[in-house]
Amino acid sequence: MASDQFTYRGVQFAKNVHSEESLDYAENKFTVFDDDVFNVTYPKSGTNWMIEILNLIRNKGDISLSNQVPIYMRSPWYETVSGKEQIDALTSPRIISSHLPFHMFAKSFFKSKAKIIYTMRNPKDVFVSNYHYTKIVNYYEDPESFQKYLEDFLQGNALYGSWFDHVKGWLQMKDDNRFFFITYEELLQDLRGSVVRICEFLGKELDDEAIDLVVEHSTFKSMKENKMSNWSMIPKDVLDHSKGSFLRKGVSGDWKNHFTVAQSEYFDNIYQEKLKDFDFSFVWEEK
Ligand code: A3P
Repeated sequence: MASDQFTYRGVQFAKNVHSEESLDYAENKFTVFDDDVFNVTYPKSGTNWMIEILNLIRNKGDISLSNQVPIYMRSPWYETVSGKEQIDALTSPRIISSHLPFHMFAKSFFKSKAKIIYTMRNPKDVFVSNYHYTKIVNYYEDPESFQKYLEDFLQGNALYGSWFDHVKGWLQMKDDNRFFFITYEELLQDLRGSVVRICEFLGKELDDEAIDLVVEHSTFKSMKENKMSNWSMIPKDVLDHSKGSFLRKGVSGDWKNHFTVAQSEYFDNIYQEKLKDFDFSFVWEEK
């Protein structure tokens, strides 16, 4: 949790990153272009992975941009205080990131032909990734305990609000042809197949060689080795690189190394309760 935060439209945000003005601008004043592509996620669901993939697709596998521009500048978060200026510096077609919940998203999107890619991840792994991330971000307070942080997460007492509300909100768009959803787990299981599906959704025709390049440059290993993609360029006063890496493990199921049996059961009970009326099968629920 941020050491200095505020609540806006029922959702918590960090003062270092957002302001009421930036959030109002994002929702009510931001102009969406028809050729914009939005990369929307709940934090720690694979946002940066998707930034890498989408920019590589846009550039037909050419790594030049990924080698020259830090990943968070390639597809900035348009709702942040610095977002407006960073987005203004992009050339179209723009690839724009957002963690906003559905009810706060840019109104002008809904009158546009722009597209959204929404990436989801097993919330247990989202939680674990977030728990570790909290420890390396200097303006976040260290979690009081794993258990307390878990309780807060499950009650939606978290930055960007409840994971459940985020996912349920965004999946209202699942049948809209401007909306494509995918999971971190699918990316891990079949990166090439996922890239092909994303290209189809975006109407991008890449030959096999270009698709191979997109895949090659967006693996965990490639991104971790690329200083423009691994967040090592973020100043030390923001991210304490001695405490851990942004690209931490890049696997699915790491929650099993962190949760006790009791914590997993506690999580499952709340998960089932929160999603009991939600008619959707997530890949991580498959036995
Ligand atoms: P872990 O902390 O579990 O390793 P976000 O970009 O939404 O903040 O998500 C960060 C998570 O995505 C981190 O998870 C990070 O390691 C993982 N990630 C980033 N790029 C990845 C890639 N190419 N392959 C697999 N995982 C990746």
